[in-house]
Amino acid sequence: MPGVVTDQMDRPLRDLRISLTDRCNFRCGYCMPKALFGANHAFMPRAALLTFEEIARIAGVFTALGVRKLRLTGGEPLIRRDIDVLVGMLARVPDIEDISLTTNASLLTLDKARALKQAGLNRITVSLDGMDDATFQAMNDVGFPVAKVLEGIDNAEQAGLAPIKINMVVQRGVNDHDIVAMAEHFRGTPHIVRFIEYMDVGNSNGWRLDEVVPSREVVERISAHWPIEPAAPNYRGEVAARYRYTDGGGEIGMISSVTQPFCGDCSRARLSAEGKLFTCLFASAGHEVRDRMRAGDSDAALYDYLAGIWTRRADRYSELRTHETKPIDTRKIEMSYIGG
Ligand code: GTP
Ligand code: 5AD
Ligand code: SF4
Ligand code: SF4
Repeated sequence: MPGVVTDQMDRPLRDLRISLTDRCNFRCGYCMPKALFGANHAFMPRAALLTFEEIARIAGVFTALGVRKLRLTGGEPLIRRDIDVLVGMLARVPDIEDISLTTNASLLTLDKARALKQAGLNRITVSLDGMDDATFQAMNDVGFPVAKVLEGIDNAEQAGLAPIKINMVVQRGVNDHDIVAMAEHFRGTPHIVRFIEYMDVGNSNGWRLDEVVPSREVVERISAHWPIEPAAPNYRGEVAARYRYTDGGGEIGMISSVTQPFCGDCSRARLSAEGKLFTCLFASAGHEVRDRMRAGDSDAALYDYLAGIWTRRADRYSELRTHETKPIDTRKIEMSYIGG
């Protein structure tokens, strides 16, 4: 198979985010609001999901296009049984340099964390939107306590997965009062809290610009307590802008998808649990990959198909949206479907 590809804006394809399921045991209002994801919601049937063998195979084809990093997402990826087995299979794919997982940590027992590490998982990111139970339980909308998430984080640390990234989606009037408490809790640990601007992903969260807390404001609120200074990115196109406490208290990050979009360096593709490829988080439609695999396409044919898709890619939704105060009116894919 010929080599790596770039898109219409000269962006390479380096990261593949793979969703393992569209199910989740939380009902965060900004992602899977109960009103839309209730008892009667039709999730993907099991047979629709890519098998572990299919995922490992397609990951191998993606490496020929340039992919070096894999991130497993959901819904909640730990709902998928034996995910450590998949991690082991992916760790054996030549040219994969980094495998990470984004989880709500509710199912992250010490045994699970050890099995994942043992299988070859390099890193883990945990979503945690508040430090006080009233706020967090209202946000996850299933009454899940903060302490249990912290336990999952401890388990990951004990299993050797530190430093751990902690993602907090900040919504004004909902959890912005917890910004400083969040920073304080993880100050002095190796873990890195990232404050994420609430985005207009999907069609179901009723996003409004006035609910976004700009990263600039988060930086101001934290530096009123502890001085911080910017740090250089770890790699080109890093999503989070890094900051360091000047007293040596560690690192935090700002993910400013709304106020400072980072489409110019976006080297990410997303694969849904049922095997559709999305070239942007805000895409309205995906490209069918699973059916081609199941119809018997060779690796070379899959390479050509995927290379064609990436070569034609011109997505830069967040940059375009910056000039609007409302979401751009397209039908978008839900976050729980594509895993953020
Ligand atoms: P590493 O830098 O490899 O640790 O991972 P990451 O920060 O890319 O991954 P993570 O899943 O933690 O991403 C954090 C959050 O940033 C996501 O959940 C999204 O909310 C946001 N994000 C990540 N990638 C994109 C993107 O391509 N576009 C936009 N608009 N937001 C993104
Ligand atoms: N805006 C910003 N981040 C979001 N996430 C889910 N929905 C949104 C949204 N509307 C985050 C989750 C998780 C990651 C996968 O995506 O909190 O950390
Ligand atoms: Fe589940 Fe994560 Fe969505 Fe919350 S943000 S509902 S934990 S997938
Ligand atoms: Fe990449 Fe689309 Fe996000 Fe821009 S909006 S950074 S192109 S995924």
